[in-house]
Amino acid sequence: MSDAPPVADTFPDGFVWGAATAAYQVEGAVDADGRGQSIWDTFCRVPGAIAGGDTGEVACDHYHRYAEDIGLLADLGLGAYRFSIAWPRVQPDGSGAINQKGLDHYRRVVDELLVRDVIPSVTLYHWDLPQALQDKGGWPARDTAYRFADYAAVVHDALGDVVKQWITLNEPKVSSHAGYGSGIHAPGIKDQVLRDRAVHHLLLAHGLSLQALRDGRHAAGQQVGLTLDVSPVAPATDSQADADAARRVDVDSHRLFLDPVLHGTYPIHLDAVQDGDLGLISAPIDFLGINYYRRILVQAGPTGDETVLPEGVPVTSVNWPVQPDGLREVLVDLQTTYPTIPPIYITENGAAYDDVPADDGTVDDPQRVDYLHGHLRALRTAIAAGVDVRGYFVWTLLDNFEWAEGFAKRFGIVHVDYASQTRTPKTSAGWLGRVARANALPS
Ligand code: NOJ
Repeated sequence: MSDAPPVADTFPDGFVWGAATAAYQVEGAVDADGRGQSIWDTFCRVPGAIAGGDTGEVACDHYHRYAEDIGLLADLGLGAYRFSIAWPRVQPDGSGAINQKGLDHYRRVVDELLVRDVIPSVTLYHWDLPQALQDKGGWPARDTAYRFADYAAVVHDALGDVVKQWITLNEPKVSSHAGYGSGIHAPGIKDQVLRDRAVHHLLLAHGLSLQALRDGRHAAGQQVGLTLDVSPVAPATDSQADADAARRVDVDSHRLFLDPVLHGTYPIHLDAVQDGDLGLISAPIDFLGINYYRRILVQAGPTGDETVLPEGVPVTSVNWPVQPDGLREVLVDLQTTYPTIPPIYITENGAAYDDVPADDGTVDDPQRVDYLHGHLRALRTAIAAGVDVRGYFVWTLLDNFEWAEGFAKRFGIVHVDYASQTRTPKTSAGWLGRVARANALPS
């Protein structure tokens, strides 16, 4: 036992408790009201790309059922909803003509949130690039960053009077590395040169849109930031080769994004950078969104750096080790490495388990309750250690389309029966709602 004083169960006053989703994972309604095609519509048609041949065509039908879903969230006691705007609903071709019906939809979503006293947190890009822009080169093309800034300004014009929290990009590393590097996500390209260009143009898109959002007319107290995924990275053994591998992975996954945003430099040379870009990318943000799921253990393998599982540690159904203290560790490390870091919101944290409804229809998920409890305890400890964290969004409100894993992997605090679209709050939903209402963990 450590001699450290116990950490209070209560969270700071005004701490925000919410749940998150992303458009393509929940909305469905891919042909409704003039929506254009995105790279995920295309990718889902590639044989073998998605487990079970699943697609987001229907998903949770959240496009039509948003009011019911917002009602569920509010009734649980959560006070904020992080959702993303589908660019192809707003600009079906990614540039030029604006689809007013798409904007009207999101206005209705925001109005519903406000009626229910729920804070809207809008993510402008959660991976659904308009296919028409991919046809012109996608993120490896510099022009895509300028198109994104135009789109951001359009959405901001429509919602900026009431939406205060804006997230430009969600996990740009996954867009670049999985989309253009490993090819396991849309658009399914495997090319290191294109991947590196995508990295820079995503960050440039962040910088350009940040400027657009700051310049536009906006609500008092507007906050603009971006969301990065972080994990503590450690070598699997004490060999020099593994230490080098861990360092490479940390640079390639984290510093490649954190350094330019927070320090205005890249840790490696990127050909695509032009004069002035890093000034835009490192312009001050009001908050940093952090998505945290797991620690990463790395070894140098025969064909490259590999992630391995620690022994004796439980894993979730996507095979991610459950190590809650990694959240405290990563937050404290961030604060030490980047002393000027802005306030943090945990914009995602959660776990996939094979939740099966019981005969009486209830869905008990004690493992998810444990996961959330452990991570919130670690978060509270990080706050006690001086890290300025302002809110926590669970991933995710509803079971949904888990990208290449399809619908089989369930991250929701609310169970979705896809055949009937029935929603059933799991045990974890009630548990998290009670924590949110009390603004405290059970002791
Ligand atoms: C991060 C992504 O933002 C989200 O879309 C995804 O479902 C979760 N991680 C879980 O993999």
